[in-house]
Amino acid sequence: MPTTETAPALDLTYIRSQFPALAQTVNGHPAAFLDGPGGTQVPQCVIDAIAGYLRRDNANTGGSYATSRRTDAMIAEARAAMADFLNCGADEIVFGPNMTTLTYAMSRAIGRELEIGDEVVVTRLDHDANVSPWLQRAGDRGATVRWAGIHDNDCTLDLADLASKINSKTKLVAVGYASNAVGTINPVKEIVQLAHSVGALAYIDAVHYGPHGLIDVKALDCDFLVCSTYKFFGPHMGVLFGKSEHLQRLRPYKVRPNTNAIPNRWEWGTLNHEGIAGIAACVEYIADIGRSARPEINSPDAGTSGVSKRRRAIEAAYEVIHEHERALLERMMVGLEEIPGIKIYGITDPARFPERCATLAVRIKNHTPLELATKLGERGFFTWDGNYYALNLTEHLDIEKSGGFLRIGLVHYNTAEEVDRLLAALHEIVGR
Ligand SMILES: Cc1ncc(COP(=O)(O)O)c(C=O)c1O
Repeated sequence: MPTTETAPALDLTYIRSQFPALAQTVNGHPAAFLDGPGGTQVPQCVIDAIAGYLRRDNANTGGSYATSRRTDAMIAEARAAMADFLNCGADEIVFGPNMTTLTYAMSRAIGRELEIGDEVVVTRLDHDANVSPWLQRAGDRGATVRWAGIHDNDCTLDLADLASKINSKTKLVAVGYASNAVGTINPVKEIVQLAHSVGALAYIDAVHYGPHGLIDVKALDCDFLVCSTYKFFGPHMGVLFGKSEHLQRLRPYKVRPNTNAIPNRWEWGTLNHEGIAGIAACVEYIADIGRSARPEINSPDAGTSGVSKRRRAIEAAYEVIHEHERALLERMMVGLEEIPGIKIYGITDPARFPERCATLAVRIKNHTPLELATKLGERGFFTWDGNYYALNLTEHLDIEKSGGFLRIGLVHYNTAEEVDRLLAALHEIVGR
């Protein structure tokens, strides 16, 4: 999407009106959902799609009757929607229960090809779901694991260290797109190129990046990319993209009736059909943000140059989402820096904000993260404390035993007013 002009502003009143959960109160305080990194809220259209499927179409696949056929058609449409979301072919989209389960399944299949002496690279910045499956599978096969470190001062990946761990024995590089703890966005395209320069596979965890930035697996050229729809306004499910050549060549563990065709050979048993109906709706929700921001996308004669109009709309949506989140991040950062005794982890320099998303991890002197999250929770602010499974990071920074971080996660339905109220509440809790 060309970004020559400033992105139009998000119509926040309309956006928020679509999320019934946002209207809640806690102890008389309006609820502020700052827990997006743990899972976002869902718009009414997603709720309706899930309920509508259960009400009208609930059936298993492949039957010769109306509801089963509608189920087949609905799954095909959801696959096409996710293919637009990630910019790949529909047969490269695998649905599953969540990212962790999909990654375990893929690590079993990829692991069949690992041999003693082969190497796998993981990072200290990643969520454990993109670490433990590889550690365990490498262990099963006698392969060696290499760890890429981070720069402790700004919690960014140490790319020189990562490059030094990649060599002719490397078979796989597992890396996150963005950190769910400190918000760092990794230079994934560059890392994919490093992996490919030695013939290794690149496995990208885009779970945290999904609600914040446009994903383009073609441009990244990654071999695999996983995300979770419950982090971007959809149901509790996971989605894996795999290049069709890999999905065809690798051998899944599967039952015999599962066909050998892709992606079916990677989807075992009965899927969560109502969840899949919700996935199609959540992609449409995001595309609709783009359609309202740039109505010209809908015009019948709009040139699409081989890219679907829905993909164009998704691209436009992320332009406005990005602008809004960026403004919230700047406001939050300025305010947090004024809290006495605070330490903000990750990138704090606004000039480098393109390298991070609006997910902030902090600690405040003399207050444990649990105490802060609890006191904020009583005032209606939903934040998290702990490690959020970014355990390798909290251990490395030596804050695991003292409670990890307090995480404040902003997404596009959050407001400047919520940021200001949170800052005021933090001042009140820690004392001015
Ligand atoms: C960055 C990241 N990766 C992986 C996961 C695991 O995702 P799932 O819950 O879909 O298994 C999470 C969940 O919080 C995450 O934030």
